[in-house]
Amino acid sequence: MKILGVSGSLRADSHNTALLRCAARHLPEGVELEVWDGLRDVPPYDEDDDVDPAPQAVAALRAALAGADAVLFSTPEYNSSIPGQLKNALDWASRPYATNVLRNLPVAVVGASTGAFGAVWAQAELRKVLGTMGARVVEGEVAVGHAMDHLDDRDRLTDPNLAEQVRDVVNTLIVEALPVTPGMLAA
Ligand SMILES: Cc1cc2nc3c(=O)[nH]c(=O)nc-3n(C[C@H](O)[C@H](O)[C@H](O)COP(=O)(O)O)c2cc1C
Repeated sequence: MKILGVSGSLRADSHNTALLRCAARHLPEGVELEVWDGLRDVPPYDEDDDVDPAPQAVAALRAALAGADAVLFSTPEYNSSIPGQLKNALDWASRPYATNVLRNLPVAVVGASTGAFGAVWAQAELRKVLGTMGARVVEGEVAVGHAMDHLDDRDRLTDPNLAEQVRDVVNTLIVEALPVTPGMLAA
C-alpha cells in the first residue's frame, strides 16, 4: 500500500514535512509513505489552462494522487487558514469535479505550527476542502504546537502522546484504504 505525504509548506526546514517523515517511520510492513515534492511547481489555477493535456506540473500532481492508496496531509496555518499554494494545488486536483483524483480517496490531516495550537484551524479548513472534493476524510487530528520544541533533528516527536496520535491517525488511514474482499463480508 502506498500513502502519499503532502506537506503544505515549501520551506526546506518545514516542521510539517518533518512530521510526514516522522509518520513514515512507523508504518506496518507492506505500507510505504512517499513525501511528494512537487508542490512548488504547481502553477496558479487558471480555468483557461485547465485543459487536456494539463500543464506538466498539474499532470504530475494528479498522477501522484491517482497512484496513491491514501494521502496524509500535514499543513501549517497561514493567517488562520491553509497556505495558498496548497489550496491552489487542491483546486487543480478538484477538476474535473465529478471524477477528480481525490474523490473517494482516503485522506487524513495533521498539522504543525510554531504557535501553541498546532494549526488546528488550518486542519479544519483543509478537511472541509477535501470533503467538498469528495475525499474520504478519516477521523483524527494531530496538532503539533510549538513544533520547534516537539520535533527533533531526526524527525522524531519528543512527546510520546503526539507520537501515538500520529500512529493512530496513520493506522486509521491504512484501515480505511484496505481493500474489502468478499470473504471479509458477513454472509
Ligand atoms: C504567512 C504566515 C502566516 C502564519 N500564520 C499563522 C497562523 O495564523 N497561526 C499560527 O499558528 N501560525 C502561523 N504562522 C506560523 C507558522 O505556523 C510557522 O511558520 C510554521 O512553522 C510553518 O510551518 P512549516 O514549519 O511547516 O513551514 C504563520 C507563518 C507565516 C509564514
